[in-house]
Amino acid sequence: MSYKNKQVLFANRPHGWVQESDFKIVENDVPAIKDGELLVKNLYLSLDPYMRGRMSNAKSYATGMQIGDVMVGGTVGTVIESRNPEYKEGDLVLGYFGWQLYGVSNGRGLNKLPQHESVSPSLYLNALGMPAITAWVGLSQIGDPKPGETVVVSAASGAVGSIVGQLAKLKGCRAVGIAGGKAKCDYVVNELGFDACVDYKAGHLKEDLAEATPDGIDVYFENVGGEILDAVLERLNAFARIPLCGFVSQYNVTSSDSYCVKNFAALLTNRVKLQGFIVGEFAELWSQALQELGDLVMSGQLKYRESVADGLDNAPKAFIGMLKGENFGKQLVKLA
Ligand SMILES: NC(=O)c1ccc[n+]([C@@H]2O[C@H](COP(=O)([O-])OP(=O)(O)OC[C@H]3O[C@@H](n4cnc5c(N)ncnc54)[C@H](OP(=O)(O)O)[C@@H]3O)[C@@H](O)[C@H]2O)c1
Repeated sequence: MSYKNKQVLFANRPHGWVQESDFKIVENDVPAIKDGELLVKNLYLSLDPYMRGRMSNAKSYATGMQIGDVMVGGTVGTVIESRNPEYKEGDLVLGYFGWQLYGVSNGRGLNKLPQHESVSPSLYLNALGMPAITAWVGLSQIGDPKPGETVVVSAASGAVGSIVGQLAKLKGCRAVGIAGGKAKCDYVVNELGFDACVDYKAGHLKEDLAEATPDGIDVYFENVGGEILDAVLERLNAFARIPLCGFVSQYNVTSSDSYCVKNFAALLTNRVKLQGFIVGEFAELWSQALQELGDLVMSGQLKYRESVADGLDNAPKAFIGMLKGENFGKQLVKLA
């Protein structure tokens, strides 16, 4: 059987904010699979902030994309043809096929997923996938929160941040979110159960953060950087820990516009441990993390939310929107 593929290609290296014109959508035929290969129809595509880094040629932990490449990305899909004995038609797989409707693989790098009627496949890109594992790894391995401590997380309503605060609560901490807008902050407190959430767009970040953290800050899970980091640095307690997960407020600024942190000295005066981390480099912990996260999701103790764009054509717009905070929860694209 022959299939028509649709792909989103990386068409132009952005300088500053990504534009929809930096992407190109093409259609082509899916090649026939050979012995040892399988064909996957992708159901969901994950849109993640790290993809902005791959569009840059600046030095990083991963090589950037080349113009003309299919945009990279995690996917969940169904095997629709297989000439690989390890996979059969109907298997659900987690892959890294990128922004396209179909993917051909020899099986390497794919993960077979359990299929439960009550679990949407999209969950394997969200609370049962990379973002949640990122929260788990950063908090447990670097943040190391103790009961009674105050844990602050930025981008608190998002895929990673929402899990960080809920895990902190489960560890007996005071969980404080920072998010953009009243609706997101209400969700973080009322639905996710954080103790407080600071709306950084309200105009009085320092005052609101001080009120939300009367005992200072012991762990700051950093997702955004910029002015928010500076405000947090002023509230750190001695021996605070900072898992440095992301810097999303700076991903689209040019080097001349990048924010210069002013309160850097607080790291010394408070003897702070700050460690950047990349979740992929903690592969040995993924199964433990997934086991714990799975139990919490299944028992209803871990809540999550999705923003789902409809169709691959809408992926560029949804991606840019996510970098601007227009998503509310994990940003996905429904492909089929
Ligand atoms: N180190 C790793 O291995 C790893 C793995 C996964 C993710 N990450 C990082 O984790 C962070 C969160 O990723 P995610 O997938 O969970 O995305 P997300 O939080 O679901 O979405 C991104 C959020 O960033 C916030 N944001 C955007 N611009 C901002 C600004 N100027 N100031 C403050 N907040 C801003 C927006 O929330 P508001 O509306 O609240 O502003 C937006 O919703 C990112 O920095 C990402 O790069 C790192």
